[in-house]
Amino acid sequence: MIIWVDAKDVGTAFKEMLISEAQMQARLGEIAAEIDRDYRDKNVVVIGVLKGAVMVVADLLRKLHIDTTMDWMAVSSYGSGTKSSGVVRILKDLDNSVTGRHVLVIEDIIDSGLTLSWLVSNLKARGAASVEVFTALRKPEAQVADVHVKYVGFDIPNEFVVGYGLDYNEKYRNLPFVATLAPHVYEN
Ligand code: IMP
Ligand code: MG
Repeated sequence: MIIWVDAKDVGTAFKEMLISEAQMQARLGEIAAEIDRDYRDKNVVVIGVLKGAVMVVADLLRKLHIDTTMDWMAVSSYGSGTKSSGVVRILKDLDNSVTGRHVLVIEDIIDSGLTLSWLVSNLKARGAASVEVFTALRKPEAQVADVHVKYVGFDIPNEFVVGYGLDYNEKYRNLPFVATLAPHVYEN
């Protein structure tokens, strides 16, 4: 089933386009330049949080010029709905040790911050030399959560969004933009 063809379809399945493909790519370029400066003399292991961060990692890493390796973790915090369960479980662990390494965690979105605060403590406990966080999107609640996020793509309103890696019941990850879901999609 074709879910969208171009931006003018956004009014049907989706309520509103929040971040266009061009806006996201431009912002990633700005942050990549910051990361290049901040990690100029270090080598960094980028840890993507599956599956949502796949798009961000792929796009951000191609804009970096520093020495990096890539690893992945999968954790579950949300069930199949739109509310956080607060329970974090490792579904896939890292392939390599982070002991003594400078870690940059890449997240798709921070909502309650529960997932991330758990993840950061977990990585510090493994003896990482430093742990910083980049998130493509951040919701308002995350700003009060007890976790320091060094790089933020966009602060967005407290609405459920899909696209650019983010899903609703595993759908819509492939959209190149970020949109709010029309209520009729999840209210029936
Ligand atoms: P947190 O623990 O509440 O910060 O939620 C983190 C995870 O919940 C993210 O990595 C996403 O997988 C998921 N999530 C939070 N908000 C949204 C959203 O608006 N759309 C899709 N997934 C979301
Ligand atoms: Mg999800």
